[in-house]
Amino acid sequence: MTAASLPPFPAGFHWGVATSAYQIEGAVHDDGRGVSIWDTFCQQPGTIRDGHTGAEGTGSYRRWERDVAQLADLGVTAYRFSIAWPRVQPDGKGPANTAGLDFYSRLTDGLLERGITPVPTLYHWDLPQPLEDEGGWLTRQTAERFADYAALAAGRLADRIGLWITLNEPFVVTAYGYALGIHAPGKALMLDALPTAHHQLLGHGLANAALRADGARQVMITNNYAPAWAASDSPADLAATQAYDILQNRIFTDPVLLGSYPDLAPFGIGPEGMPCVQDGDLAVISAPVDGIGVNYYAPTRLSALPDSPLPFQMEPIPGYPVTAFGWPVVPAGLTELLGLLGTRYGAALPPVYITENGCSQRDEPAADGAIDDQLRIDYLDGHIRAVHDAITAGIDVRGYFEWTLADNFEWSEGYHQRFGLVHVDHETQSRTPKASFAWYRDLIAAQRAAG
Ligand code: BGC
Repeated sequence: MTAASLPPFPAGFHWGVATSAYQIEGAVHDDGRGVSIWDTFCQQPGTIRDGHTGAEGTGSYRRWERDVAQLADLGVTAYRFSIAWPRVQPDGKGPANTAGLDFYSRLTDGLLERGITPVPTLYHWDLPQPLEDEGGWLTRQTAERFADYAALAAGRLADRIGLWITLNEPFVVTAYGYALGIHAPGKALMLDALPTAHHQLLGHGLANAALRADGARQVMITNNYAPAWAASDSPADLAATQAYDILQNRIFTDPVLLGSYPDLAPFGIGPEGMPCVQDGDLAVISAPVDGIGVNYYAPTRLSALPDSPLPFQMEPIPGYPVTAFGWPVVPAGLTELLGLLGTRYGAALPPVYITENGCSQRDEPAADGAIDDQLRIDYLDGHIRAVHDAITAGIDVRGYFEWTLADNFEWSEGYHQRFGLVHVDHETQSRTPKASFAWYRDLIAAQRAAG
C-alpha cells in the first residue's frame, strides 16, 4: 500500500510527530536542570528493565539541530515536544532558569525557520523532585506551582507559539505513577491516588488561564483513550468495563468539557464527590479549551475482578497482529473511539488532534543497513485511514502526530521498545531512518501537494 493512496485530508490538517523531554533530551545536568521524579525513580533498583535510565535519551538536548533537520527532511508541518519543568524551574518553584528557557527558545526558532509549527506540552511526567518531596500531585499546591511554571514558559515563548498542551495523559500519572507504582514516583496507593486526578485537572485549568494571560492563543489537554470492550455480556463484566471506561476515558475529560465528574460510585465515592474538590474548582477546570489531544494505541478488554478496590482486570484481545509490546493492532478502535467522543460530548467536543499514535517493533538493521519495519507502516496506514473515516463521519480532527521521531527511552521498558521512525543505536547514538520514515515522508508530501 503506498502512502500516496491515502484519501486526502482537509486543507490545513497538521502532520507531525511527537516526542517528550525525558525520553529524548538526556543532558540531565546541563544548564542548571533540576532533578525530576524520573531521575530519582530510574535510580531505584528494579524499577526499569535492565536498569536503563533517561540520562542519555537520544541526546536531543545537545543535538537538537539534528532532530530539527530530520523533521524538515520528513516534511512535518508540526512538532509536538515537551518542555522539562526541571529545566525551567529546577526546584519546581521560583524564578525561571533562563538557560533552560533559552533551550526551548532556540528549538522554537529552529522549527519556525523550517516552517514547522511548535506544539509544546508542559507536563510529560517529569515533575521536579522537590515538589514530589512536598506531596507531588497528591497536594493542591502542585497545581498552583504548575500554573506558575506555565506562566514562565508562555512569558518567554508565547510570542512565537500559538498552540499549547498542558498535560500529557494524566490518567497514566494517576494510574501508573500513584496507584500502581510502576512509573515515577512509584507510589502504590490504589484508590487513594484519586486526588492526583483532581489536582492534575486543577493544574490544567489554572495553567490554561495562566497561559492565556501570558499570550498563548490556543490551549488543550492530551488524554490517552481506549475503547473499553467487555470480555463477555455478563452483568459483572459489563459493570467492570463501565468502571474502567470512567477511569480512563471520562474522569479526565468530563470535568474539562462538561464541568462535572462522572459518577464515581464504582470506586466507593458517593454523590458528595471527592473531598479534595473545592468550590469553584470545576469552573476553573472547565474553562474553554481549543482542542482535545487524543493519544490512541489499542483498545482495552475487561472482565470483573471481585473483591478488589479496582473492580476490573485486563484481558487479552486475540485475533489481531501484535506490536513488540504485545499490544493488539486495531485501527478500527480509533474510529470507534473518535465516534464515542463525538457521541458522548456532542457540541461540547472541541477540535480533536491525534497527539500520539504509533507502535513498537523489533527493528534491527539488515546486512545492507536497511530497516524494513513493515508492521509499523501497516499500523500507521491503518490508523491514519481510521482517522479519515472519523472525519468522514463528522468528527473535526485537525492533526495527526505519529509517536515518535526516533527510538527513545520507553519508561519502565528502558530502551527495549522501539517506537521510532528513525532507528537509534543506543551505544553510539547513530541514527538510521527506517522504511516507515520514507513512507510517512511520502504520505505527508502527497497530502501537502493535494491540500
Ligand atoms: C506516552 C509516551 C509513550 C507512549 C508509548 C504514551 O503513553 O505519552 O510517552 O512513550 O505512550 O508507550
